[in-house]
Amino acid sequence: MHVDPYERAPRLPEGPIDPQALFPVAPGAPTRVELEIGPGRGWFIVERLEVDPEVKLLGLEIRRKWATIVDDRLTKRGHRERARVFAEDAKLALPRFLASSLDVVYLHFPDPWWKKRHQKRLVLGTELLVELGRVLKPTGELFIQTDVAERADEYESLVSAAPAFEALPGGPRIVDHPYGARSPRERKAIEDGLPVFRLRYRRRDG
Ligand SMILES: C[S@@+](CC[C@H](N)C(=O)[O-])C[C@H]1O[C@@H](n2cnc3c(N)ncnc32)[C@H](O)[C@@H]1O
Repeated sequence: MHVDPYERAPRLPEGPIDPQALFPVAPGAPTRVELEIGPGRGWFIVERLEVDPEVKLLGLEIRRKWATIVDDRLTKRGHRERARVFAEDAKLALPRFLASSLDVVYLHFPDPWWKKRHQKRLVLGTELLVELGRVLKPTGELFIQTDVAERADEYESLVSAAPAFEALPGGPRIVDHPYGARSPRERKAIEDGLPVFRLRYRRRDG
């Protein structure tokens, strides 16, 4: 009999999601919650926790295997009260998130496919962007990076035309980012000498 080793992959609770409520918080203490869509092997989350002791990290990863491995690893490293990764399709899960509930959303190398026929599979499209404009707090940040130049151009056209977002000063294109952590794919691109295209926006206030 085939047993799926990831049958018990961590899932979000049912119903509306308050990201702060996924973590134990001291009463009255403000909590900054950041979300990575598609963390893959998850090292950005681990590094980000280590450089910023104030922040909580949430990952939504469609592949159950990697959601399970990374969530277990976070627990083993003692980060369970600060970070979780759930096996979820971000496109389906984000509409359940409370409005204005996230401080930063990261999309690191979200769409590695570059052929026209893969257009339908893209994670970042108009629908997800509308949700991102709703779930980010006013002035909350949206950060996207890719090593596919055409993807970066598409993302820039898409987000720059979205009324909910504006480029951060000096952006939207930035040479490097200020988050003090690297995603696995980002690290590999840097090692291989590939260009990395980075875009940084914030949700308009009001
Ligand atoms: C190219 S990998 C990049 C992984 C990681 N962000 C990095 O930079 O190393 C893209 C990741 O997004 C995940 N993914 C794709 N579509 C998704 C979706 N709709 N919701 C959540 N994760 C998704 C994939 O399973 C994969 O782990």
